Amino acid sequence: MSQTDLTRERLIETYRKKAKRYDITCRLYPAPGYPQREQRLRAVRALRLRPGDTVIDMACGTGLNFPLLEEVVGPGGRIVGVDLTDAMLAQARDRVEKNGWGNISLVQSDAAGFDFPAEVNAILSTYALTQVPECAEVIAYGAKALSGGGRWAVLDLKVPGRTPGWLTQLGTATVRPFASIDDWMMRRPWEAIRVAMQEELADFSWTELFFGTAFLAAGSRDPLA
Ligand SMILES: C[S@@+](CC[C@H](N)C(=O)[O-])C[C@H]1O[C@@H](n2cnc3c(N)ncnc32)[C@H](O)[C@@H]1O
Repeated sequence: MSQTDLTRERLIETYRKKAKRYDITCRLYPAPGYPQREQRLRAVRALRLRPGDTVIDMACGTGLNFPLLEEVVGPGGRIVGVDLTDAMLAQARDRVEKNGWGNISLVQSDAAGFDFPAEVNAILSTYALTQVPECAEVIAYGAKALSGGGRWAVLDLKVPGRTPGWLTQLGTATVRPFASIDDWMMRRPWEAIRVAMQEELADFSWTELFFGTAFLAAGSRDPLA
């Protein structure tokens, strides 16, 4: 088994253990009181969705973004939740059933191998893409699947620029259970995401959030491309 496959297996195992309690424990990520909901709302707003739109929630986990997305796309829209971990998707499925949402489909897939449907209006990924080694490729594949003017938005944690020790811990706590923090900090995946989005999308924006411990990157597919 390759190192990449091993890392992926460990990640799935970790999220299988976390899945049932994820909605509660994630409120403590990366630290108690962290403004996660505000950040999610900002990310959804950055998609500029309209009623009836189709949106992909990449690495959707238990579906915490679904209510926010439902609110804007409405029953005439479509949401596709994609995740690698079966147990996280099982929680997402429960959420969909409990809320009676008939317009959400769930797909178990590695983000890197996901066959994006054509002409989607938006793609969102929250607190997940820096965990995907092929994050730049995922940005590029997704960008090609967007309709003209369609939006990509990525919200995730990062290590702040000038970093006091406590802030570094805050920014990296989320990756601690399944990967070496050192590896994550060395790889600096948010930089690869930034470069890929800048290359693939028009109208690119990069906003650092909460003392640089998170970022919101967004852009549109050039309608003429
Ligand atoms: C911290 S959770 C975030 C879940 C959700 N996006 C949220 O905002 O609550 C990370 C999720 O990414 C998923 N994930 C990690 N690597 C992935 C990959 N390569 N492809 C698809 N999903 C992946 C995990 O299974 C997990 O559900």
